[in-house]
Amino acid sequence: MSGANVISHPLVQHKLTIMRDKGTSTQGFRRLLREISTLLCYEVTRDLPLVRQTIETPLAEMQAPMLAGKKLVFASVLRAGNGLLEGMLELVPSARVAHIGLYRDPETLQPVEYYFKAPEDLHERLVIVVDPMLATANSAIAAVQKVKDRGANNVRFLCLLAAPEGVAKFNQAHPDVPIFTAAIDEKLNEKGYIVPGLGDAGDRMYGTK
Ligand code: URA
Repeated sequence: MSGANVISHPLVQHKLTIMRDKGTSTQGFRRLLREISTLLCYEVTRDLPLVRQTIETPLAEMQAPMLAGKKLVFASVLRAGNGLLEGMLELVPSARVAHIGLYRDPETLQPVEYYFKAPEDLHERLVIVVDPMLATANSAIAAVQKVKDRGANNVRFLCLLAAPEGVAKFNQAHPDVPIFTAAIDEKLNEKGYIVPGLGDAGDRMYGTK
């Protein structure tokens, strides 16, 4: 697939607008991120396969649908990815969690890995890599490559905002990995920030600026 799946649900769009506003407080930003990530998670899991399982209600036996296969893995690209995790885990509390520590070298804009921890059996699970901002896509491409190197073969990428340049580059690097995002903005600036964007997602959620 190429391009990205834009999640146009009115609640997602409304919350995203408040998050973009520079007047929104750290506390407000964090709360909205948790809320919006639940909605994004709902969309990224919309087509998960189901199996029928025999259960007994108080009235009768029935064949009822349940999620098929092993538990999902949410792979958070540190640190900003953690802002998406909380709301996603509220919706899918049984999900396993992987952490991928990458930071962006401010000079080269290239990702540098400093941490990786994931469940062993990634090859048997759907892995949803999460990072709020798909900007240059360097970190996202490296994070997805990392989970693939550890065996993942069914991967999706979920973000809040994307730049067209990032979407194109990611699609080229990982054509088998669909992108889900709440919006694709106008462009990247010379510092690798998404414009109009929302600023630095990590700083906005942790109040570090
Ligand atoms: N990371 C961010 O947090 N914001 C951007 O605009 C780009 C990358």
